[in-house]
Amino acid sequence: MPLKDTALSVRENAYAPYSNFKVGAVVRSASGVVYSGCNVENVAYPEGTCAEAGAIAAMVAAGEQELVEVYVVASSPEPVPPCGGCRQKLAEFGKADVPVTLATTDGAELKTTIGQLLPGAFDASHMEGS
Ligand code: THU
Repeated sequence: MPLKDTALSVRENAYAPYSNFKVGAVVRSASGVVYSGCNVENVAYPEGTCAEAGAIAAMVAAGEQELVEVYVVASSPEPVPPCGGCRQKLAEFGKADVPVTLATTDGAELKTTIGQLLPGAFDASHMEGS
């Protein structure tokens, strides 16, 4: 199934009673498996957990630690950019050239990369020599 269809499908499962903004995200791992996530909110922390974080958590829980493709979809007028925390999480498990597609449920797509989403990312090399 194309990443787009998987992302649209998992978006339907989002639990977003506070924002009413459902997001679906999928990551393809280095082994080729596709992991899905949706946003899950709660009354104490209404922003909840982002869809991207859910997909990454599913990948890591399955024993994989490298993602090679990302697709995110929401019902926004323009493709919604991932939040700062999700950018850092994507950069933790994907190389800078990993393609990221941000999409709307109407079919608009913005193609970018992890490196473009988080330029100048802090990584382990910055702690060398300390
Ligand atoms: N959200 C995501 O799941 N991913 C994004 O890239 C942007 C925002 C969710 C978090 C929260 O449940 C809702 O959208 C509003 O911020």
